[in-house]
Amino acid sequence: MSGAQVITVDGPAASGKGTIASGLGRRFGLPVLDSGLLYRAVGVLLEREGGDLDDAAAAAAVAGRLTAETLADPAFRTRGAGEAASRVAVHPQVREVLLQLQRAFAAQAGGAVLDGRDMGTVICPDAGAKLYVTARPEVRAERRWRQLTGQGESVSLDEVLADIHRRDARDSGREAAPMRPAADAALLDTSEMTIEQAADAARRIVEAARARQAP
Ligand code: C5P
Repeated sequence: MSGAQVITVDGPAASGKGTIASGLGRRFGLPVLDSGLLYRAVGVLLEREGGDLDDAAAAAAVAGRLTAETLADPAFRTRGAGEAASRVAVHPQVREVLLQLQRAFAAQAGGAVLDGRDMGTVICPDAGAKLYVTARPEVRAERRWRQLTGQGESVSLDEVLADIHRRDARDSGREAAPMRPAADAALLDTSEMTIEQAADAARRIVEAARARQAP
């Protein structure tokens, strides 16, 4: 797989990576995969059928049944879905099933943008441009709190901050594909940036990476 046209955007919850990934997709005319949505779908669908999030085989079976149509459900964007996602994401069997799907997306002619936790380290180690987007936990909590309350959820800022800390610890502490920057990723801290500034900084990082590759 040649990843020269692939852009990976990894980072913790509410770091701004989703917005950055869609901005890069528009700017470079590439399809975007929000890989977190896959894990969210597995978690929510497993809970809906009464399954146990700690049951790796059951979670992997749900992962094997995902289709593009099932992914459109707004229920995957809730606070509970984020928590369920990070619990099923610890299972290597689930990650293995989703790996094929993500690699196929990345292999599209012309390239792709993929955002998640392990895009630059595991899914697309050959990507031509890699970003790792971060922001201080307090900043991320406020962003996520605005988003959740904006979509009608009733939750306090302190609860969202606790979620963020718990999810960061689980995502970076797990054995299977832990969240971490690839050695060759450019780090982008968006704590003090507006969305526009972050999108602009990301675009410059990608342009610089592509210029380095140019023959
Ligand atoms: O990015 P998002 O918040 O939607 O991700 C939800 C959860 O899915 C993360 O907390 C993480 O546990 C898991 N995830 C993952 N690997 C990815 C994307 C998401 O483990 N590539």
